[in-house]
Amino acid sequence: MLKAQGILKAYGTLPVLKGIDLEIKEAEVVSIVGASGAGKSTLLHVLGTLDHPDSGEILLNNTSIFKLSQQKLAAFRNDHIGFIFQFHNLLPEFTALENVMIPGLIGGRNSNEVKKRALELLQMLGMLARKDHKPSELSGGEQQRVSVARALINDPSIVFADEPSGNLDSKNAEELHNLFFKLRDDLKQTFVIVTHNKDLAEMADRKLEIADGVIVA
Ligand SMILES: Nc1ncnc2c1ncn2[C@@H]1O[C@H](COP(=O)(O)OP(=O)(O)OP(=O)(O)O)[C@@H](O)[C@H]1O
Ligand SMILES: [Mg+2]
Repeated sequence: MLKAQGILKAYGTLPVLKGIDLEIKEAEVVSIVGASGAGKSTLLHVLGTLDHPDSGEILLNNTSIFKLSQQKLAAFRNDHIGFIFQFHNLLPEFTALENVMIPGLIGGRNSNEVKKRALELLQMLGMLARKDHKPSELSGGEQQRVSVARALINDPSIVFADEPSGNLDSKNAEELHNLFFKLRDDLKQTFVIVTHNKDLAEMADRKLEIADGVIVA
């Protein structure tokens, strides 16, 4: 479903990605590990189309994403890609339910339909009872589960997560990790997860290690 070829990216004179080739299959959980500064977040941002590589190509569902215009790319990203970050990035003024709905509304979908799906996802993630609370009124684990629901609202082809459990205690981290695998099984959801968490990295269907700008294993 996702294919990256010959990805190069430098920041000024600092080469960070030095030729990344990878493929991700549907319903696969892939972990990306490597030392701090190895380029994991940079790679995730490039794969997630948030950042452009200096060269190389990314095909997602057979669409060469960097050939799209800015506007088409933004719409494509909203429709096909979900993101989960270390710090949840939920909007503080909005409730859990509203936060989950926002990417659906941005996509121009019918709001009743988006709300129905948001409620289903919140239920699936054990967050229905907390739907009317704002992020500041939720625990870290709960905030992250809301972020997962938000990432899934448009039924994305692929979800990218950057240190999703980096800010959680071990119990909440384990629950979140189990959730990824449940979503893979129940929804055939594909995940690419950057993590320093050894348990999660090992649980993944495949582990990619990045060192010195290339994938070494
Ligand atoms: N916007 C930027 N401008 C300049 N250099 C950057 C920028 N973003 C990242 N870098 C540099 O690129 C390298 C890779 O950074 P990146 O954030 O991808 O690492 P990482 O593997 O995610 O590390 P960590 O595990 O600490 O999150 C680092 O040396 C970093 O300092
Ligand atoms: Mg990082």
